[in-house]
Amino acid sequence: MSNIILITGASSGMGRAAVNFLSTKDFIVYAGTRDVENFKDVKSKNIIPIALDLRDQNSIIKAIEFIKQKHGKIDVLINNAGYGLVSTVEDVSEDEMYAQFNINVFGVLRVCKSVIPLMRENKSGIIINISSFLGKIGLPLLTLYNSSKYAVEGITDSLRYELKDFNIRVHSIMPGFFDTKFARENLVTNKKTFDKNSPYSNLVSSLAPIIVEQINNGNSATEVSQMILEIIQNPKFPARATVGDKAKKFIPMKKELSDEDFERRVMEYYNI
Ligand SMILES: NC(=O)c1ccc[n+]([C@@H]2O[C@H](COP(=O)([O-])OP(=O)(O)OC[C@H]3O[C@@H](n4cnc5c(N)ncnc54)[C@H](OP(=O)(O)O)[C@@H]3O)[C@@H](O)[C@H]2O)c1
Repeated sequence: MSNIILITGASSGMGRAAVNFLSTKDFIVYAGTRDVENFKDVKSKNIIPIALDLRDQNSIIKAIEFIKQKHGKIDVLINNAGYGLVSTVEDVSEDEMYAQFNINVFGVLRVCKSVIPLMRENKSGIIINISSFLGKIGLPLLTLYNSSKYAVEGITDSLRYELKDFNIRVHSIMPGFFDTKFARENLVTNKKTFDKNSPYSNLVSSLAPIIVEQINNGNSATEVSQMILEIIQNPKFPARATVGDKAKKFIPMKKELSDEDFERRVMEYYNI
């Protein structure tokens, strides 16, 4: 029997690349998306688009129940959906703040909450959280995004203990910058922060274009798909791994240096 995979945020970027790649490796891939129309041209019988709105537990329960009725199991859950909010803390609105955590953190928890019982009953499962190298290091203007990804790292660490006795593995992938729709279409920016009269305008005009440029010229999403396959195939795969140039540059540096020395290196690198 083929292994069953559920991927969230599947319509573009790393999610879409993983759907395409894993569907060629004898997996049945459920492509969780807010809009299944995104998959109307898909030909592979191994790709099954499924409506999934991470803000709505009922939508998640419905999708998981559908998969359970068909296959009786979900072997692999890939929590991939996420987006970035660019705002200072001073300017961020209550709605923007909540929306960022609602997708990037509570969405992950909601899907885990619905999938874990099925994995636990089957005494088998793999949960892969697509976090970020910004889940271990901070950057200005990205406090809300960074803290949401730090939270994802915490979810991975805690769940690993909580689920180990049920033969459920939990891993985190920390990508560097990747060329996807992340910065091209899905970045959310705060109006006040980006106003030309903002007290942060120097920081915004120097840093924001560099970050966007680095993301749009980043690594290819297929590298993440390859790592997902390695995690599935290797029961001894480490708890977390980095992928992409920026993650491989900054994460080891963060481990080696003091917080203050690391901060100095980041300030030099981004000229902030
Ligand atoms: N690109 C990077 O440089 C980078 C670096 C590190 C980590 N990451 C993380 O990697 C994951 C995948 O991102 P990506 O780079 O592949 O970006 P992407 O192309 O924008 O894809 C993100 C997916 O998340 C869902 N999504 C986006 N905005 C959303 C919103 N406001 N509400 C609900 N769902 C939303 C969408 O899925 P549907 O439309 O199908 O629902 C979208 O396909 C994210 O968790 C991101 O934080 C990205």
